Amino acid sequence: MEADMDVGPPERGHCVGNPLFRTKSIERILADSDAPEHRLKRTLTAWDLTGLGIGAIIGTGIFVLIGTAIVGDAHRPGAGPGIMLSFILSGITCALAALCYAEFAAMIPVAGSAYTYSYATLGEFLAWLTGWNLILEYGVACVAVAIGWSGYFNNILKLCGLELPYWATHPPGADGGIANIPAAIIVLLVTGILIVGVKESARATCGIVLIKLAVIAFFIAVGTSSVDMANWSPFMPFGFAGVGAAAAIVFFAYIGFDAVSTTAEEAKNPQRDLPIGIFASLAICTVLYISVAAVLTGLVPYSQIDVHAPVAEGLRMAGFKWGAAIVATGAVAGITSVLVVMMLGQIRVFFAMSRDGLLGPWLSGVHPKFRTPHHATYLTGVAVAIMAALIPIGEAADMTNIGTLFAFVLVCVGIIVLRYTQPNHPRPFRMPFMPVVPILGVLACLGLMYFLPWMTWIRFFVWTLIGILVYATYGMRHSKLATRPSTKQAEAPRPA
Ligand code: ALA
Repeated sequence: MEADMDVGPPERGHCVGNPLFRTKSIERILADSDAPEHRLKRTLTAWDLTGLGIGAIIGTGIFVLIGTAIVGDAHRPGAGPGIMLSFILSGITCALAALCYAEFAAMIPVAGSAYTYSYATLGEFLAWLTGWNLILEYGVACVAVAIGWSGYFNNILKLCGLELPYWATHPPGADGGIANIPAAIIVLLVTGILIVGVKESARATCGIVLIKLAVIAFFIAVGTSSVDMANWSPFMPFGFAGVGAAAAIVFFAYIGFDAVSTTAEEAKNPQRDLPIGIFASLAICTVLYISVAAVLTGLVPYSQIDVHAPVAEGLRMAGFKWGAAIVATGAVAGITSVLVVMMLGQIRVFFAMSRDGLLGPWLSGVHPKFRTPHHATYLTGVAVAIMAALIPIGEAADMTNIGTLFAFVLVCVGIIVLRYTQPNHPRPFRMPFMPVVPILGVLACLGLMYFLPWMTWIRFFVWTLIGILVYATYGMRHSKLATRPSTKQAEAPRPA
């Protein structure tokens, strides 16, 4: 069994034999992903990947959560116009993590993203914890995204003179909500699309990406003419506490650039195209976000910004009713594409963890005709639909952020570890300024986590404890790394 493990240089020899620290060699990871029964179709180009990235990034964060980030809520102060700084802080954090992701994704171009990277570097237990947190990043993010979708969808219905009853559009609570039904329905529809095929999903996503880029450009162009610079003062009404808290909220708006790396097994030329997809999508979105933040806070005094549909309402309050309708329609389309890519990410993570034996084998079944992981798709679709119907958006977004930030921390640490344990392994993309970039990445992620509400921290600890229990009772025993003897095939180089 130990022949399978990449135990690293002699100084890490104490890890050998301890299941918590067993790592999976890059060669074996690549060979496993090539096993015919698990192989996915390679169809995605650099354009598809950039489209998927933007498709995953621009959504509920910029269209919905920006409102709470500017105004604040019961748990934290808002940033006011200082939201521009919040976007810069979050953007820098993501750029640092993105550099690490790009090096990993080019070296280990298989499904599973941060989970797979941790498996190659930090050992099985931390890999499991990473995967467990990716369920927050993708699965729970889908919940927040679907709820944001439902908010804008209801807005459009209202503009058309139709209104769904309150109980059918809000989660259970003292205010009379029972279930957010539109949120659940959109999740089930997307689930159906994903079963048919990833190429079709990427095509549909690219079309929607163009629509949402056009809508954002439209908002910036129309809104700029009505910006009143007096609205930018005071710039930081609640000081840095507000800016930091808002940065931790709008971090959600950036989540998704790493979803590109979860489709690595479906990329035609992953070594070249994954870094392009990650950086291009992140850079484009950062510029757009700062522009939207500047225009929105210039349009109306920050304290009057709407927290449900802030971007559309901002235009309406500035006198552009027709513009508000266009933005709301674009937001619905844009948020739909986020849902497609984030669900795709969750499904690939389940798939990868199941293929490694850490989750049940049922989850890595591939559809005989469509070659998609249909079982993981059913599970994700049903679970996300139920949660989207029953959970408030803020709580889902905060949980997503804390889980994602923790996964980023592990990725940053992992890249340092891999430079020491595998210094000579070919790196098609080599991160500059080692180890300064990943260390700054860790600090930036921890800094944003610090600003999340304490309730989110408690939930996060509970989630982590559950994860540890599941690993101890299932994953540790069924891990393929522990149970499957070394084979020639597993160690063989990847076929061209
Ligand atoms: N970044 C994605 C969004 O804002 C998750 O919807």
